[in-house]
Amino acid sequence: MARRMFPRLVVASTAALLLVVFALVSPCRAATSGGGPSAVLLPASKDDATQQYVTMFRQRTPLAPVKAVLDLGNAMLWVDCEAGYVSSSYARVPCGSKECRLANSPSCATTCNGAPSPACLNDTCGGFPENTVTRVSTGGNIITDVLSLPTTFRPSPGPVATAPAFVFTCGATFLTEGLAAGATGMVSLSRARFALPTQLASTFRFSRKFALCLPPASAGGGVIFGDAPYVFQPGVDLSKSLIYTPLLVNPVSTAGVSTKGDKSNEYFIGLTGIKVNGRAVPLNTALLAINKKGVGGTKLSTVAPYTVLETSIHKAVTDAFAAETASIPRAPAVAPFKLCYDGSKVGSTRVGPAVPTIELVLQSQSTSWVVFGANSMVATKGGALCLGVVDGGDAPVTSVVIGGHMMEDNLLEFDLEKSQLGFSSTLLFRQTNCNNFRLG
Ligand SMILES: *[C@@H]1O[C@H](CO)[C@@H](O)[C@H](O)[C@H]1NC(C)=O
Repeated sequence: MARRMFPRLVVASTAALLLVVFALVSPCRAATSGGGPSAVLLPASKDDATQQYVTMFRQRTPLAPVKAVLDLGNAMLWVDCEAGYVSSSYARVPCGSKECRLANSPSCATTCNGAPSPACLNDTCGGFPENTVTRVSTGGNIITDVLSLPTTFRPSPGPVATAPAFVFTCGATFLTEGLAAGATGMVSLSRARFALPTQLASTFRFSRKFALCLPPASAGGGVIFGDAPYVFQPGVDLSKSLIYTPLLVNPVSTAGVSTKGDKSNEYFIGLTGIKVNGRAVPLNTALLAINKKGVGGTKLSTVAPYTVLETSIHKAVTDAFAAETASIPRAPAVAPFKLCYDGSKVGSTRVGPAVPTIELVLQSQSTSWVVFGANSMVATKGGALCLGVVDGGDAPVTSVVIGGHMMEDNLLEFDLEKSQLGFSSTLLFRQTNCNNFRLG
């Protein structure tokens, strides 16, 4: 077991130096007696230039490394099949196949007269891969190929598990514009049938759930799919201390291209209120419900760098936060933020800048996701410290979009079988972080 200290953490007491390594399962326990893995994983790191969370996996024959952006939305994995896609093992998903029906495919490519390639096939099911960062979509063939994922990681990737015919969509080179440098596609973590959580669960016969730990820097975190106990050493089992809230299904698709009647593939939760420093912020709570047209509600998004709030909610939260921090010297606003402080005048704590908590109140007053300074404040280059929420306008499709920054160094478990989200609040309280997220 590799152990390492917490480089990003300033720990005050020696007792706190107790090694709390985020250890999940040992490599031997990761393999079931049936031979399949009980969990597989994707590493995650943050691309500083774009603030996207990127991952790396191996695909094709011979196996080639593919860098892609993590997305809690989207319909399935898509990669650029036009440039540099070399493989002897890809196969089309035929139009009349079960996979094509399950993919809810809106199209079928009947003929292509060029030389056969992943992008040029006859009788092939089609999908609409979307760059959810730029909101650009295109049509592309749905095909299968070998996908290889590690069953352990850090300090080095361990034994791999291989899915021989993993279903994904062929994107185009132009679709990768706006993604982190070197990324040639997007990994979908959504609730869709062929997104990674469900497709990996059916391939490897483990549970339809995954745990996400997003890192605040390039240091790293990860996504663990399947059945893994979230155990911290020594003896702290994080899976027993998560707080749960139901995952809600928006009955109307929130994707760029959809068919009438499609549900949204994204993850919504039932936010019922927001508190700042323990005090309820007055909000138009109608905005927090998802209406019949699919408008409103609260979702989680890894492609939104910061939490985006509908205009009236943004104003109410910003005003409440300003009122609770009247004694901290302000700094001029730094776009896209509205409320900034002189960073040198804000104290620091183990859980980030010393500022009031923001509570996302869920199904009951006692169930809330408490957000501390590390997840609410953003340090700007000029030395200002800003409240990291942005104004989403007065008619957004979704009223509250919880963005990447607010999820960093939190453990989130998306359980599609129980339809619930488990959350830890900041791991910094437990003297660990996503860089210590490991399996084996
Ligand atoms: C598709 O079918 C047509 C007609 O049979 C054939 O000419 C063409 O080469 C095929 N295309 C591919 C990519 O196999």
